[in-house]
Amino acid sequence: MRVYVLNGPNLGRLGTRQVDVYGVTSYAQLVADCERHGRELGLDVVVRQTDAEHEMLAWLHAAADEEAAVVLNPAAWTHYSVAVRDACAMLRGPLVEVHISNIHAREEFRRHSVISAVATGVICGLGVDGYRLALHHLAARLAAGA
Ligand code: DQA
Repeated sequence: MRVYVLNGPNLGRLGTRQVDVYGVTSYAQLVADCERHGRELGLDVVVRQTDAEHEMLAWLHAAADEEAAVVLNPAAWTHYSVAVRDACAMLRGPLVEVHISNIHAREEFRRHSVISAVATGVICGLGVDGYRLALHHLAARLAAGA
């Protein structure tokens, strides 16, 4: 089953970006880990990152057309992008919103997600492990036919 793992702006810099907040795992490692976990779980995982909102919207539209499941770290768009939220609202498969950091324990402007209300569920504050947990959940959910 196809699962898109979509990452928003600045996440391509993982491994060097604010390592105290986001950890030392590089984006390349994150991609390899998601692909490996996907294989172990029998999922066809496609991992992508973009700094361009229009590109993210196109990927979400394609996921909606395919009725695919999505793991999304919307990064900074989390907090203000009505366009990303509207695209998420069109998805027909499950959507897991993931944040590496605990956005509720950070600056006030990070505490609200405009995406969460249209997500199936949210994982935050568990580091890059959140992606693995999201994939496990989706594998179980899809196997149960949900
Ligand atoms: C983030 C949290 C956001 O507030 C931030 O803008 C990011 C990453 C996270 O994974 O913790 O870029 O989504």
